Amino acid sequence: MDAENVSLKEYPVWDAGVRIFHWVNLLSVLGLVAIGVVILNAKALGVSTEGKILLKTWHVYFGYIFVINLAWRLVWAFIGSQYARWKYIVPFGADYKAHMCQMLAARKQKKNIYFLAHNPLARLMVLLLFVLLTIQGVTGLVLAGTDVYMPPFGQAIAEWVSEDKAKVDDVKPYSKENINEASYKEMRALRKPIVETHEIVFYLLVLAIVLHIAGVVVSEIRERNGIVSAMVTGKKVFPEKPVDCD
Ligand code: HEM
Repeated sequence: MDAENVSLKEYPVWDAGVRIFHWVNLLSVLGLVAIGVVILNAKALGVSTEGKILLKTWHVYFGYIFVINLAWRLVWAFIGSQYARWKYIVPFGADYKAHMCQMLAARKQKKNIYFLAHNPLARLMVLLLFVLLTIQGVTGLVLAGTDVYMPPFGQAIAEWVSEDKAKVDDVKPYSKENINEASYKEMRALRKPIVETHEIVFYLLVLAIVLHIAGVVVSEIRERNGIVSAMVTGKKVFPEKPVDCD
């Protein structure tokens, strides 16, 4: 088709809730990845103990923004506008299989097929991203308690590892003051698989983010529906009615 003769129509898709979530998530994940990489390489970089505590504390502050934003988005998927809901963002539901078959058939015939919300392949990626982000949020909150005694579990963990329960406030990160060695060892044993999970999911998440960006770039070039600007304006453009639009 001659691109100049195609008349495009605008369709609203992402509500303000989805768009705000997306950009807050991006910024908080960027902050978390950047500080996380420094924590991972703290030894090689010669970071002092105070430096490590500071890095972890700031990582946790970014983590709180990230977790609140993510938790809110998971709720918004039940109560938000039509295309913000689970039905349109994850690879389940009555129409999913049919849409996937339609898309594969169209690709085979080298024809364009348009989806207003995510296409069926993108929905798999969205599910993967939500799962990885949720695991990272939950493990991070536990580590905030075990590593720097920060909320929501920090107080309970400090009480657990303290020698004198009346002086819990003396329990500080990287300090042996008022620490009961046996309880501390138990706590570190509990923490071990959690920090390992946090690290593995970090690598998986970086990989998933690279794939996500590659998918967005390929779709934008192939379909030209303005999917990047849709995360700012909330609208996509199509030359014909998308298949998932009522
Ligand atoms: C996308 C989200 C996140 C990413 C990519 C991320 C990444 C990382 C990385 C790479 C490390 C270093 C791992 C290591 O030292 O073995 C780390 C450590 C840590 N993260 Fe996260 N994190 C995320 C979310 C969170 C959240 C939500 C919290 C808490 C609210 C959190 C709390 C911590 C803590 C306390 C540590 C220190 C653990 C240690 O001693 O190594 N993280 N994170």
